[in-house]
Amino acid sequence: MGTSLVGAQQLISPPEHYAQMHRHHGSHESLLTVTTVLRAEKGGSQSRLVRCDDGKLYVVKMHPNPQGPNVLANEVLGSILIRGLGFFAPRWRQVTINLKTIRVFPDLAMCTADGGTTFPACGVHFGSEYLGGQRYRLFDFMPKPRMHTLRNASQLLPIYLFDIWACHQDTRQCVYQKLQDANLYDTFFIDNGHLFGGPTWQEVAGRARTMHSDIIEPIKIGDPRVEQCVRLFEERIPKLLHRAVAVVPPEWYKNDIYALYARLMWRLDFLRLLVAGDILGRDHRMGSIL
Ligand SMILES: Nc1ncnc2c1ncn2[C@@H]1O[C@H](COP(=O)(O)OP(=O)(O)OP(=O)(O)O)[C@@H](O)[C@H]1O
Ligand SMILES: [Mg+2]
Repeated sequence: MGTSLVGAQQLISPPEHYAQMHRHHGSHESLLTVTTVLRAEKGGSQSRLVRCDDGKLYVVKMHPNPQGPNVLANEVLGSILIRGLGFFAPRWRQVTINLKTIRVFPDLAMCTADGGTTFPACGVHFGSEYLGGQRYRLFDFMPKPRMHTLRNASQLLPIYLFDIWACHQDTRQCVYQKLQDANLYDTFFIDNGHLFGGPTWQEVAGRARTMHSDIIEPIKIGDPRVEQCVRLFEERIPKLLHRAVAVVPPEWYKNDIYALYARLMWRLDFLRLLVAGDILGRDHRMGSIL
């Protein structure tokens, strides 16, 4: 049995005995079909903004994805968990791409690392409902002096804790949605492809994560908001995770999703220590910079 360090605490690796659960594929919502491809979005996963046959716009991450084998599974799990905890994330849907779609929309082809081209597989892909539209303007970045214009600023701390629990291997990405004619913004949490130890689920047991974002002010050990959030996570995550694991299409991951489930349940048991480790690590890094 391996060991790893969290702050000054030594933890034992996760147990193997978390029960497997029944799968139930397919959601009650119908699958969407692409009717127009509007543009390529920026970013390593090479997503596309498309219109679907329900008339809505979606940012679609396709599989197989250049960022790695479990990226789409991470997106679904992240979306279900973040929304289920009551925080803002776009709705997700399954979007179908078939041979006809690929023939009609050759722009769906993605670039490979060696300069070649690869097409999405025929099947379902991850669609994130587009947050923009006539009533909204979108921003990728919010300058610190304007943070007071965020309506849901209170969600930033819980998302920081969520990313620790989920072993996020990327900085947390947000889309700031501004209602036309109002100087107020809603913060949506997007890009969950690098949760859970990243696209290959290479999480090191007990380690918090590797990347930090400065959207939340540093917090101190003993901050009462942390305990409040951890209790919320303990209450809601087991049920949400159980349901989420069961709805991920199996072609969206390559590794053992039940092992991931077990590790995540274990991380929930030790979340207070993981958070303390993250805060101490951050303080230590700041100390060595100053
Ligand atoms: N639901 C959405 N509504 C509006 N814009 C979105 C939405 N989802 C993603 N985007 C836009 O698409 C871009 C790419 O999406 P995302 O960051 O998830 O993919 P990525 O390729 O993994 O990026 P990265 O290289 O940062 O890992 C984002 O920077 C954002 O601007
Ligand atoms: Mg991104």
